[in-house]
Amino acid sequence: MKRYPGKKISTAVFISGRGSNLKNLLKFSKKKNSPIKIELVFSNNKNAVGLNYAKLNKINTLFLSSKKFDVLEKKLLKVLQKKNIKFICLAGFMKVLTTNFITNFKGKIINIHPSLLPKYKGLNTHQRVLENNEIYTGCTVHFVSAKLDSGKIILQKKIRILKNDNIRRLSNRVLLEEHKLYPKAIMKILA
Ligand code: GAR
Repeated sequence: MKRYPGKKISTAVFISGRGSNLKNLLKFSKKKNSPIKIELVFSNNKNAVGLNYAKLNKINTLFLSSKKFDVLEKKLLKVLQKKNIKFICLAGFMKVLTTNFITNFKGKIINIHPSLLPKYKGLNTHQRVLENNEIYTGCTVHFVSAKLDSGKIILQKKIRILKNDNIRRLSNRVLLEEHKLYPKAIMKILA
């Protein structure tokens, strides 16, 4: 899905919380050689801090909530189609998208996860990594499939776990790597 030179791809970022990856992607998207333009930030959580950051940066935001996730997805799809969104970055989005949704954006949704996938899918990654006395951990950017934290890997970064690492220190160190890896992965598939 390489872009035509000079034309940035209309992109939506989905978040559920803090939004540090969103912040990083926004900064990246403003670079001249970045292939993406962030046109929309969507969250399933109205208190997601990242929504405020997007608003401050004059990016359109959308919050939708529904007990039935497929109902929410249908509304979301309509908005994405109306806004002509062509690419989606999940950045701390804590819901699993359905096959129907993914089919509408085949090969055009990517995600970042704070582990060396396929190891440690799901939640509490750093805690589980430390409990298992792993030597290495890292982060992964991958295409999204209907299975949690699965789908073809685009890029990974491996880091060594330090003796004095705890969940907070480790997650901070991995997050710094996430912020470098996500733009690199986007460049790899789109630029
Ligand atoms: C990040 O560490 C991201 O990799 C993780 O949530 C955090 C969100 O932080 N995502 C997942 O665990 C997805 N399975 P952020 O809101 O500051 O970007």
